[in-house]
Amino acid sequence: MDYSWLHTKQLLICATAVLLAGCTTAPAPTPTPTPRDDSAIRQALVTGVHADTYSLETGPNTYCAVCKSPANWDPQAVIDDPPNCVSCKFASDANMRVAVGNPVVPENQWEGIRCYNCHPVGEDNVAEEALAWWDAETDTHVFQENSTMLCEQCHRDSPAGTTRQRELADSTAHASATCTTCHDPHDGTADCSDCHHAEDTETDFVNACWAQYLAPDAPAHHTDLLCQTCHDAGGLELRPVQDPGEPYPGQWATWRNTLIAGSIPSNHVWVSHNLSAEVDCSRCHYDGNPWELAADVGTASE
Ligand code: HEC
Ligand code: HEC
Ligand code: HEC
Ligand code: HEC
Ligand code: HEC
Ligand code: HEC
Repeated sequence: MDYSWLHTKQLLICATAVLLAGCTTAPAPTPTPTPRDDSAIRQALVTGVHADTYSLETGPNTYCAVCKSPANWDPQAVIDDPPNCVSCKFASDANMRVAVGNPVVPENQWEGIRCYNCHPVGEDNVAEEALAWWDAETDTHVFQENSTMLCEQCHRDSPAGTTRQRELADSTAHASATCTTCHDPHDGTADCSDCHHAEDTETDFVNACWAQYLAPDAPAHHTDLLCQTCHDAGGLELRPVQDPGEPYPGQWATWRNTLIAGSIPSNHVWVSHNLSAEVDCSRCHYDGNPWELAADVGTASE
């Protein structure tokens, strides 16, 4: 791996330190630093969303490895049609597709997602805190300004597109957030209730939302709705999850409709990241809705 950018940065830091230290007379004894305890981070990584990316049900594995296990990625690997992220994520074939030029990596050689995929790792095997995405094609670490840039190296829907970042930028809530404002970087989890709970004084959540719509004795009590269904500002489809293989079974979720390669319709749960305080009740409570919900529930402002 190439750490040249890191060395430059360290040299600058060292040079500054020497300049500052130049003013003092005697060199201070350097205490031996206690090694950082990474056990909780390692544990989060092996139990979290990035723990197990080996799957023979989804996509040719040396092709899909570009995100699932960059060290196993073969830039020459090819895939039969349709060549896209969806075929790497959803089981669409009865048997794994093995395209010509796409040899299968056995599970015991699969690297998965490790510290070095997101941080520079020194000779001592210790991960730097700096954020850098490892580019498997060139075997170099590319410095990332913030977590959003890093996450979107893999979490994008097209080579050109960084969808969740655009959703965040479009949203009135959290427009300046980065991915790790909400997501734990190492287990990947996120929960609206980490911030919007009974003691939330930063927003009007308790009065305007909890007391009206979520508390067990709320006048319009809603159960089994992801927060994002009411707060989506991205015009996603809203409906309950009854489809096998989708997350949040039995709950109301936000769904994204896209055309793969411009022509193949795709409809999957997509948790909205474009959120706002403006809620349009009639997106579910409309005349003749298939769920037989009351149509005249009024709106939040009435
Ligand atoms: C998927 C990418 C990813 C992987 C894999 C990853 N990290 Fe991180 N790590 C991050 C991000 C992003 C941050 C910054 C979080 C922030 O500032 O909000 C971070 C922060 C850190 C920090 C700073 C303190 C903290 O907990 O926030 C340490 C230390 C760290 N990572 C160590 C590790 C180690 C050790 C591994 C491997 C066991 C690892 N990371 C794997 C993305 C990753
Ligand atoms: C090296 C590529 C890579 C990076 C960098 C990366 N991820 Fe992932 N992430 C994946 C893969 C692969 C999956 C598994 C997708 C699947 O199951 O098909 C995944 C799954 C997830 C999931 C679970 C939901 C899902 O779609 O399966 C979340 C949440 C997630 N990542 C968040 C993050 C966040 C936040 C960051 C930045 C801190 C990040 N990821 C960085 C590759 C990456
Ligand atoms: C305002 C908080 C917030 C921010 C900021 C945020 N997320 Fe999320 N994200 C969530 C929540 C909450 C979920 C649902 C988690 C769950 O139900 O387990 C989620 C779900 C996801 C999922 C999996 C679900 C799906 O099907 O879409 C991915 C992948 C993801 N986020 C990626 C990202 C990336 C990449 C970024 C940065 C561009 C980001 N998130 C920024 C709150 C956030
Ligand atoms: C890390 C803490 C944090 C998490 C997690 C978080 N929020 Fe927020 N949210 C805030 C803060 C702080 C504000 C007020 C400032 C702002 O708009 O950024 C806010 C504002 C909002 C607003 C009001 C925006 C407006 O225009 O007035 C809504 C609605 C909202 N959040 C919903 C959600 C939902 C839904 C989730 C889960 C997907 C979520 N939040 C996750 C911290 C958080
Ligand atoms: C049934 C629809 C519905 C659901 C589900 C819902 N909300 Fe709300 N929420 C609203 C309405 C309506 C308002 C008030 C908006 C207004 O009048 O500005 C609101 C207000 C808020 C606010 C305060 C925004 C501000 O102006 O400060 C936050 C934060 C919020 N909701 C977060 C959440 C979170 C987190 C969840 C999931 C635990 C959630 N909401 C679930 C309808 C909903
Ligand atoms: C994402 C779809 C969705 C949205 C948006 C939504 N609701 Fe609902 N609403 C439901 C569902 C589903 C129920 C049935 C109760 C349950 O299972 O949560 C319900 C039940 C109700 C009820 C009880 C009515 C009855 O006949 O039992 C009222 C009142 C209500 N909603 C008002 C509202 C208001 C006001 C808003 C806007 C602030 C709103 N809802 C937004 C899905 C939604």
